[in-house]
Amino acid sequence: MRRKIVAGNWKMNGSKDLVSNLVGQVRSELASFDNGVEAVIIPPALFVGDVVEQAGEKLAVGVQNVACWGSGAYTGEVSAAMAKDCGCGFTLVGHSERRQLFGETDEQVAAKVGQALASGLVAVICVGETLEERSAGKAEDVVSLQVRKAVADVGSESWQQVVIAYEPVWAIGTGKTATADDAQAMHAAIRDVLKSLGAPADEISLLYGGSVKADNAAALFAQPDIDGGLIGGASLDANDFVSICRAVPGKS
Ligand code: PGA
Repeated sequence: MRRKIVAGNWKMNGSKDLVSNLVGQVRSELASFDNGVEAVIIPPALFVGDVVEQAGEKLAVGVQNVACWGSGAYTGEVSAAMAKDCGCGFTLVGHSERRQLFGETDEQVAAKVGQALASGLVAVICVGETLEERSAGKAEDVVSLQVRKAVADVGSESWQQVVIAYEPVWAIGTGKTATADDAQAMHAAIRDVLKSLGAPADEISLLYGGSVKADNAAALFAQPDIDGGLIGGASLDANDFVSICRAVPGKS
């Protein structure tokens, strides 16, 4: 059984007020159903402590980024070990905004994955093609290479801490979503890449991200290789986020 995960990436949004209003509501609504979903809130790092305090057992917490290094003179950075120490179970790595706006390279992504795994976090590795790459018929090649490079140093004992989020860049924050069929095709391709690397691919959760909303989540999550979602904008609204969590097909 693969883990079913719905993670809400707040990006650089939110406030202590949002934490107080949203986390308690999400927490109590999650307690009212049991479809096996693992819900994760990924706020800006400054709010992690507040979210952890209010999250309770059914709600996990993550950070949006970690440093390539363990500790030292890296002003402004936050390490994976610090995130773990503060109660996080997850970190995003290589979100397309990190890659595009901050020049994060595949090598840095791989180093961050290494830090996350060594610190006991689940690394949610984000991959995805641009519109130009998709139009040129290169989407699968681009994504396969991103996956290969990101997991190049993952040891056999750490695969259970790896999650891949496929997020086509053109779908992030645009209201355009990949069709369920296109998303499924890419997820199957990612699983094949993982298989070819000797990973236990059938046990690794693959999430879809990019304009997932309450009204399109069920069709995406019904696909055989889509094990949940990485949610941006819609995770800032408790009702929307909970509806998306409910859309994971499950026991009830
Ligand atoms: P979006 O963002 O749901 O707002 O498109 C997804 C993401 O960037 O993780």
